[in-house]
Amino acid sequence: MDRIRITGGQHLHGTIPISGAKNAALPLMIASLLTSDTITLKNVPNLADVSLLIRILRNHGVDTAVDGKRANGNGHQGDTLHLTARDIVDTTAPYDLVRRMRASFWVLGPLLAREGKARVSLPGGCAIGTRPVDLHLTGLQALGVDIDLDGGYVVAKARNGLRGGIVNFPKVSVGATHNVMMAAALAKGETVIENAACEPEVADVASCLNKMGAKIEGAGTSTITIQGVDHLEGATHTVLPDRIETGTYAMAVAATGGDVYLEGARADLLPAVIDVLREAGVEISETNRGLRIARNGSGLNPVTVTTAPFPGFPTDLQAQLMALMCRAEGLSVIRETIFENRFMHVQELARLGADIAVTGEMAKVRGVASLRGAEVMATDLRASVSLVIAGLMAEGDTTVNRVYHLDRGFERLEEKLGSCGAQIERLHS
Ligand code: EPU
Repeated sequence: MDRIRITGGQHLHGTIPISGAKNAALPLMIASLLTSDTITLKNVPNLADVSLLIRILRNHGVDTAVDGKRANGNGHQGDTLHLTARDIVDTTAPYDLVRRMRASFWVLGPLLAREGKARVSLPGGCAIGTRPVDLHLTGLQALGVDIDLDGGYVVAKARNGLRGGIVNFPKVSVGATHNVMMAAALAKGETVIENAACEPEVADVASCLNKMGAKIEGAGTSTITIQGVDHLEGATHTVLPDRIETGTYAMAVAATGGDVYLEGARADLLPAVIDVLREAGVEISETNRGLRIARNGSGLNPVTVTTAPFPGFPTDLQAQLMALMCRAEGLSVIRETIFENRFMHVQELARLGADIAVTGEMAKVRGVASLRGAEVMATDLRASVSLVIAGLMAEGDTTVNRVYHLDRGFERLEEKLGSCGAQIERLHS
């Protein structure tokens, strides 16, 4: 298993290109199930989750091709993916694949829309929480789907086809919004989704669906209205930049000090994060090419932050912010309200000398004068990158084990940070 070794203490200077968003690329790829024509996706990040989803989609009959050459030869352009679901050959998504990536559960809506039936494994819990799928199921039931649970599988049928309906989610769910929106695109009549997720990735998927001929309005707000159409066509779409990768590198620069240009990053995708980082004392400016992040030698101010659905502070940046606040001058309070078990990085940060006390959904982080490198273990994707940030700030060497978590969501992390002066290397064992 690969490990990453970091020798902390270097300021970061240079340019980091921001990749396409994992959490938009995955549902966009799944949307290819909705048409027999080809969907071409540009700026797709080269990640383990993308490769796994390609395998899952192939299992349903999707032909996939990745344009081999990376433009400019500098490795900083995303992949171009062509996906063609001419015929759906299998409407079952097996446990062995779904358990490895929860987002693959989102094939349920598109398979139902296209074939009128689907059998998709329940994903099960994961390291960051129980993560139920009840909202996906009740949302699809409102579109006329019959649902049975059998042997750990959701067995869903729309005998008379999908019909539009009113879906009022009691809680904001990104995945349930994607699932219902994709299904409703091919349902008969109008669907209204209330309390929809407003995440930019939902708007990006809706924009691609509209290019395919769907009639979706309001995506990116809490009310989405969909007029169902008979069929969808091929389209070409460019995946929006990854706001979580943007926030992560912004926090890395805030942690080490320095001056880095995040090429292709967009401030409108992470308003709450920019506010919090500015409050902490980080300089952020936006140009038409991206975001510039700088911190001189001055200390970091502590912050009080609560994670929330977009446009609030994202749960996917909570661990990284916590790593940063380990060195702030005072007490930070971080509340995690989205997932119940997303503090596993706390114990690992403590190994570097962090002072963090957790009570329920609240973590109190008392800034310390220095962190000392240590051997730590990644527990999930975002937790693992928080350990990288902590390692960059710490004195001496930090080794992060179980790096496969990182590879699920960060493209060429060592290369991107290394090109800005970080001492970071991957150890193959
Ligand atoms: N929830 C339910 N019932 C449901 C669905 C969700 O109770 O049927 C709960 C969840 O347990 C959680 C909350 O609702 O407490 C929000 O979950 P959501 O459904 O929004 O999460 P998701 O769609 O499974 C996506 C991202 C996550 C990100 C969350 C929240 C993708 C592929 N995943 O997950 O990203 O944390 O939204 O923004 O888009 C990551 O990239 O590291 C990651 C975990």
